Amino acid sequence: MCYLGIDLGTSGLRALLLSEGGKVIGAAEQSYTSQHPQSGWSEQDPAKWTEALDAAVHELRERFPAFADLKGIGVAGHMHGATLLDETGAVIRPCILWNDTRSHAEARQLDEMRGVRSLSGNIVFPGFTAPKLLWVKRHEPENFARIAKVLLPAAYLNFYLTGDMIADRSDSAGTSWLDVAARDWSKSLLDAGEMRLDQMPRLVDGSQAAGTLSPALARSWGVSADVTVAGGAGDNAAAACGIGALNDGDAFLSLGTSGVLLAARTTCRPDPDSALHTFCHAVPDRWYQMGVMLSATDSLNWLASITGSTAPALTGALGDDLRPPGNTLFLPYLSGERTPHNDADIRGSFLGLGVGTGVTDMTQAVLEGVAFGLRDSLEAFKANGSSLSRLLAIGGGAQSTYWLKLIATALNVTLERPQDGEFGAAMGAARLAVMAHTGAVSEDVLTKPEIAEIIQPVSELKDQHDAAYETFKAAYPMVKAAQRSNKK
Ligand code: XUL
Repeated sequence: MCYLGIDLGTSGLRALLLSEGGKVIGAAEQSYTSQHPQSGWSEQDPAKWTEALDAAVHELRERFPAFADLKGIGVAGHMHGATLLDETGAVIRPCILWNDTRSHAEARQLDEMRGVRSLSGNIVFPGFTAPKLLWVKRHEPENFARIAKVLLPAAYLNFYLTGDMIADRSDSAGTSWLDVAARDWSKSLLDAGEMRLDQMPRLVDGSQAAGTLSPALARSWGVSADVTVAGGAGDNAAAACGIGALNDGDAFLSLGTSGVLLAARTTCRPDPDSALHTFCHAVPDRWYQMGVMLSATDSLNWLASITGSTAPALTGALGDDLRPPGNTLFLPYLSGERTPHNDADIRGSFLGLGVGTGVTDMTQAVLEGVAFGLRDSLEAFKANGSSLSRLLAIGGGAQSTYWLKLIATALNVTLERPQDGEFGAAMGAARLAVMAHTGAVSEDVLTKPEIAEIIQPVSELKDQHDAAYETFKAAYPMVKAAQRSNKK
């Protein structure tokens, strides 16, 4: 027996095959791009997701004969994206993604409505789903009029796999249409967002069986007719399942396209006036809180692309020993910012460039800017009364030892790097598939990884990084004012 975990990421799809005993059999990846037709816009064609899934499955089938004994599938996806379907199930327009900030005016409008924050448990950020739909209503009324269902990206893949429109609660919590404490669609929130209950998919928990692989796909994949499809999860909740973060005290740092500090919660304790998010977990009776910066590895990948380099080559040039903060400062706001500023308009900046500044200095500045952006999220947790002192480090950026030393020092936290292996959203999604198919409980399936390395703050550089963080914080209002007057 084996299980398939799919991570529908922002830059590509990862498909992971897991054995019955929870060991990795193999993985396949496909990449795709996002489109940015205007500044602040970010879109993807859902057809690219299903093409990527077909190609990844094709590769897994060719390479791993065990695939034929597939029993369950779980899908994790980048959160908040609005995939609009008409009454025939056809996609109406490209999906508007989590890092698209065009709907900032609509987000503000919703956020100011009475009861919206307290029911949804969160500020309404422009990246969330509800304001996107108000934007479509205002700017593309002909598309809005055709909407029969709105699916998040992972739910769209569930629809492709099963033919049913089902969404899990962890992902749905990021729409601003869900009552996060009650874990159900809220009529008042839907009314506020000018949407109807019949436009929402059926809700399940991520570890519940949501449906069965469609007979047509089962035939074409060469698997049995009874493959279970789990509810799945938003990518951050799935990553939490991948590393067994379920209880108070379990927390991680994820250095992916976005940068995330996440802490699991056994109770729902929203802090709706702060930029900290409170969402349902992928398993029943659990929630989580997180701070999100929009451009983490995205900032480094951007620098790599404009300098004709690669992210590993750029970070490799810094060596492994942490340097004191550089003279160049980078504000990592390439797509605006979420925690703590909730600022769709702000854009990134380099400050303090000199004739002697080289690409390595700029790389150091980018890594520092992201580290300080994460410190902003840590401060939001502190303000909420939570101290995060130990975090598991996951995501592509966690491969850089330099970056982890820097983050440990800038945040004054201990970071734990898991042993080589799979700990991301694809692993979490595969584990949800195991639970959905076998009925096994979280404690038995969502276990914690072995730790390979503990990264402590570099104490002699801590004060200098604290001082540089103060400069970083002071730069935001200054740059904001400069960008505002530049726009006029
Ligand atoms: C979370 C968020 C991102 C996306 C992409 O709120 O917007 O982390 O899920 O990974």
